[in-house]
Amino acid sequence: MSPCNESTPFLQSLLSLLLLLLCTNYAFCEPLVNFQVAQSPPFVLDSKSHQCTTTILQRTFGSSIGDPEIVKYKPPTNCGTPNTWAGVTLTLTVTTNGTQYPRLAFFNFQNVEIWRSSTPIPNDAGHDGIVWTYVKDVTRFTPLFSKPGKFILQLDNVVQSGIDGEFAVTLEATIFSGSSRFPPAQRADLIIPLTTSADKTGGEASVPPGFSVEVTLPRNAVTAFAELQATASGDDTSWYWNIPNQFLSYFPPDGMRLIIGEGPFREVRVLVDGQVAGVAFPYVFFSTGTGSLATWSPIVPYGALDIPTYHLDLTPFIPILANGRPHNITLDVASAESNHQINQNWYLSGLLQVNLDSSTLPTTGNITLYQASDYALSTASGSNDSDISITVNASRSIHIEAEVIAGSGERTKVVFTQNLEYGNVQHYPKQDTYPQHVFQIASGETLSTHNGKTALQDTFTYPLLIDYETGTGAWSQFNYTYDRQLRPAPFIMGTTIVEHQVVTGTSNNTFNYTDTEGNTYIRQVNAAGNAITFDKEGGTLAPNGR
Ligand SMILES: *[C@@H]1O[C@H](CO)[C@@H](O)[C@H](O)[C@H]1NC(C)=O
Ligand SMILES: *[C@@H]1O[C@H](CO)[C@@H](O)[C@H](O)[C@H]1NC(C)=O
Ligand SMILES: *[C@@H]1O[C@H](CO)[C@@H](O)[C@H](O)[C@H]1NC(C)=O
Ligand SMILES: *[C@@H]1O[C@H](CO)[C@@H](O)[C@H](O)[C@H]1NC(C)=O
Ligand SMILES: *[C@@H]1O[C@H](CO)[C@@H](O)[C@H](O)[C@H]1NC(C)=O
Ligand SMILES: *[C@@H]1O[C@H](CO)[C@@H](O)[C@H](O)[C@H]1NC(C)=O
Ligand SMILES: *[C@@H]1O[C@H](CO)[C@@H](O)[C@H](O)[C@H]1NC(C)=O
Ligand SMILES: *[C@@H]1O[C@H](CO)[C@@H](O)[C@H](O)[C@H]1NC(C)=O
Repeated sequence: MSPCNESTPFLQSLLSLLLLLLCTNYAFCEPLVNFQVAQSPPFVLDSKSHQCTTTILQRTFGSSIGDPEIVKYKPPTNCGTPNTWAGVTLTLTVTTNGTQYPRLAFFNFQNVEIWRSSTPIPNDAGHDGIVWTYVKDVTRFTPLFSKPGKFILQLDNVVQSGIDGEFAVTLEATIFSGSSRFPPAQRADLIIPLTTSADKTGGEASVPPGFSVEVTLPRNAVTAFAELQATASGDDTSWYWNIPNQFLSYFPPDGMRLIIGEGPFREVRVLVDGQVAGVAFPYVFFSTGTGSLATWSPIVPYGALDIPTYHLDLTPFIPILANGRPHNITLDVASAESNHQINQNWYLSGLLQVNLDSSTLPTTGNITLYQASDYALSTASGSNDSDISITVNASRSIHIEAEVIAGSGERTKVVFTQNLEYGNVQHYPKQDTYPQHVFQIASGETLSTHNGKTALQDTFTYPLLIDYETGTGAWSQFNYTYDRQLRPAPFIMGTTIVEHQVVTGTSNNTFNYTDTEGNTYIRQVNAAGNAITFDKEGGTLAPNGR
């Protein structure tokens, strides 16, 4: 055990101070390694695969608003042709020290947002700053890595008196040439961005208002799978404890905490020419700055380094999207309030993974069934008796069918359904504006079949429970689960992840990963006081597990 991990309770603060002095003055200690529990991409562990690593960028982000890192990418020439690649990763390594807020990072490549991340705060007592490394599987973006283009990393940071943390960032791309065990990855023919195309940004749109982009698909497009990025920010950051407008009067106007309205329900919607094509009930993103438990170090909230995305099948709209004319795709976020308003702001973007027919003749067909309301069904109830309690429920049911006729003559019956549920319960002691607890759960299934075969599936449950200390709003318990079986498209590997994080003062994490190629990874890891107290991993993807 290094002296930096010392956790003897009685001497802890004295020792921390001493170590801090040593660290600062003599670079005595190593930076504290922060991490998000995650599996390794399977092909990374293939010792037979030839690897080509190129540095995409290196940059220290000081004051960087309006000043992203913009670099040119050239595909490597020594790793075979792109259509033989087994996988592609991005490896991000960041060091920081001092004091800083968590910041969002937007990775835009060829005008497509391919990764959204956030920066842990340098909670580094007794260490020489913090460092984190994340290996992101970007194999599904191989079409983008196959050709030269522009890479933008937007990491808006502010450095001023009292907030001095800068982020020293290195980003590398690694191509894995593959082997008999890891054959060439399947991929889409074309990736279409749903971004703002604004210069010098990651392309994310700030909504409200909803963001619309015109897209024109090739006339021989036969499938289109959408992927969405959606992160709450500003006044909507803690949307799970927003109050329905009808119950705002329960709260004293001069309470300890600013009460924010528009309720706690959010759905991200995708519209094609103004018609709902699908929705996502989002996972709550927690940055390491959320809550007042000093326990996001070294284990960050699940998703903080690799913010989950949402997947929909827009193939039922192919007969419209592939008619040779531009179409209007809108991304927005709606609440369960009567006017569906939300607060400022959410950052949204998206992309379409498109496959083409072998024939160059136009695709035709029809939407044969369309059942989707503009907004979710919802109910809200509140009581203001011995204490305040508020419950909001919402549900969504979408059913769209289409016949898609490819130029080559192949007919595909596409059935896209979503059945989603949402509940949120908040309890407040009388006349206190900090809740006693908030419970929220989003769950459901998105399913798409093409001629009866599963093309896309997303079955998820995200229960979230936060208990608060009376009067202070400090968190006393955080209990969050990411339970998701996800198959984003027929050509993208399917994964099942059950991740459970309980933070009470200690941080307890269990992670269970399986995928459609038979890989497994299990990790149980606990931390207390900036140090790992328990760590056990297993499965085929564990470093020593094979
Ligand atoms: C802290 O960060 C600053 C800015 O990145 C860097 O110049 C400095 O060397 C770092 N200090 C330590 C002790 O690592
Ligand atoms: C809620 O209860 C408090 C205290 O009993 C009372 O002063 C207030 O008027 C009530 N508010 C509403 C909207 O019923
Ligand atoms: C796109 O659709 C949105 C939502 O229906 C609408 O508000 C917007 O005006 C449309 N834009 C264009 C260019 O048609
Ligand atoms: C089906 O779509 C084609 C164009 O792709 C159109 O000509 C035809 O009228 C549609 N049929 C029905 C029954 O809507
Ligand atoms: C609303 O959601 C809560 C939390 O999931 C649940 O306990 C309750 O049964 C739901 N109520 C309705 C009417 O669905
Ligand atoms: C955390 O929440 C889950 C339900 O989502 C529950 O089964 C479990 O008992 C809770 N754990 C703790 C420690 O409260
Ligand atoms: C977390 O794990 C520790 C053992 O590492 C255990 O003592 C503690 O009770 C666990 N906490 C919860 C909330 O499960
Ligand atoms: C992990 O998940 C797999 C499949 O979902 C299941 O069979 C297995 O029992 C789980 N393992 C643990 C330790 O929870």
